[in-house]
Formats: sequence, C-alpha cells, structure tokens
Amino acid sequence: MILIGSKNPHKLHEVREILGPLGIRAVIAVDLPDVEEAGATFGENARKKALVFASYLRAPCLADDSGLVVPALGGEPGVHSARYAGEPGDDAANLQKVLDRIREEGLSEPEAYFFCHIAIAVGDDVVVEAEGRVEGRIIAAPRGDHGFGYDPVFFHAPSSCTTAELSPEQKNAISHRGVALRALAKKLADPELRARIEPT
Ligand code: IMP
Repeated sequence: MILIGSKNPHKLHEVREILGPLGIRAVIAVDLPDVEEAGATFGENARKKALVFASYLRAPCLADDSGLVVPALGGEPGVHSARYAGEPGDDAANLQKVLDRIREEGLSEPEAYFFCHIAIAVGDDVVVEAEGRVEGRIIAAPRGDHGFGYDPVFFHAPSSCTTAELSPEQKNAISHRGVALRALAKKLADPELRARIEPT
C-alpha cells in the first residue's frame, strides 16, 4: 500500500487507475502538515513534500508537484502556478494573470507545457521519481468546463481542443500527471524497488 500525500482527492482516482493494475493499493493522506513549496524546480518541491510527508506519516509516501510553463514568459507561472496571482490560490485569477501577461508581452498563442514531477520517499530517502509533460499553447478565450486551473486556455493540438474540453479519462490519457504516473508504474515493476516501498 502507498500513501498519496495530497490535499486534492481528485489525484487519488488518477493514481489508483494507473497503479492499481500493478497491485499497488493507494490511499490518500489528507491530514498533512503544510509544506512551503519554495523550491526552484518542480522536482525540488515534489521531493521535499514526499520526504516531509513520509516522516510525518511514518510510512512510504508519494507526492507530486505540477504546473504550467510558458517559455516565452521566462517560464512563468512555473513553480508558482498555484499562487501566481497571489494568496490564497485562485484558479480564475491565475488564469486571468497568465492571459494578461501574454497580452502585455505582445504574444499570440504562445507555446506552453504542463509539467509534473512525482517522488516517493521511504524514511529519509527519495527512492523513485518520474516526470511527465504535455505540450500545448495558450489561447486567449477560455473554452470548456472540465478540469481545473489553466485547462480552459491550454489548447492541445492532437486533441483539437483545450484540456478543459476533454473528459477526465481523455485527459488522463494525455496529461502530464498521466505520463508521469505511467513512467512511475514502469519503474515500480522492479521487484527490488517494490520491496523497499512495500516491505513484506
Ligand atoms: P499542484 O501540483 O497540485 O500544486 O498544482 C499546481 C498548480 O498548477 C495548480 O493549482 C494549477 O494551477 C496548475 N496545474 C497543475 N496541473 C494542472 C492541470 O492538469 N490543469 C490545469 N492546471 C494545472
């Protein structure tokens, strides 16, 4: 069994769908200490969360950090995605800010990507990590009612729509988190690694 360190219950469904077939039971741990996501990279934040949560829960713990990157904006919002428009984090305000910044810079539908870094910590060690990314571009007029965050303005060309216009299953099939989780699942097929995470 693995604990998912996240205050977002939607993540559990996705993790279960991908790790379940490997025989890994995932349980969400919502009683978690606040971890300041002050790292310069998604990886730093994911590792820190996994280590703090594993120590707090005294059990192997999976944590992730994700966000939107617009290279033409110098990588913004990047690791600041959740609180781009300030505290407290507000999806609508964050989305408006990225559109404002794109307009200020005179950009038109700039390329962007969602990125996700996942880490599993056991005791004081990060034992496995995986990353995923999905490419798209930012459109000016929001479209779609699914998803969250920046989905309504993230146009995914292979799907010919925004990620807010995809069903949850369609989004999992292409999303940064889906890609990272499937990469993680591949690594977890290694029996030695599995034994560290789920000692018998
Ligand atoms: P966290 O990894 O849950 O901390 O998410 C960070 C922030 O990145 C979220 O609050 C969203 O603003 C953004 N984000 C991460 N993944 C997605 C996604 O799949 N769609 C839209 N926005 C996302």
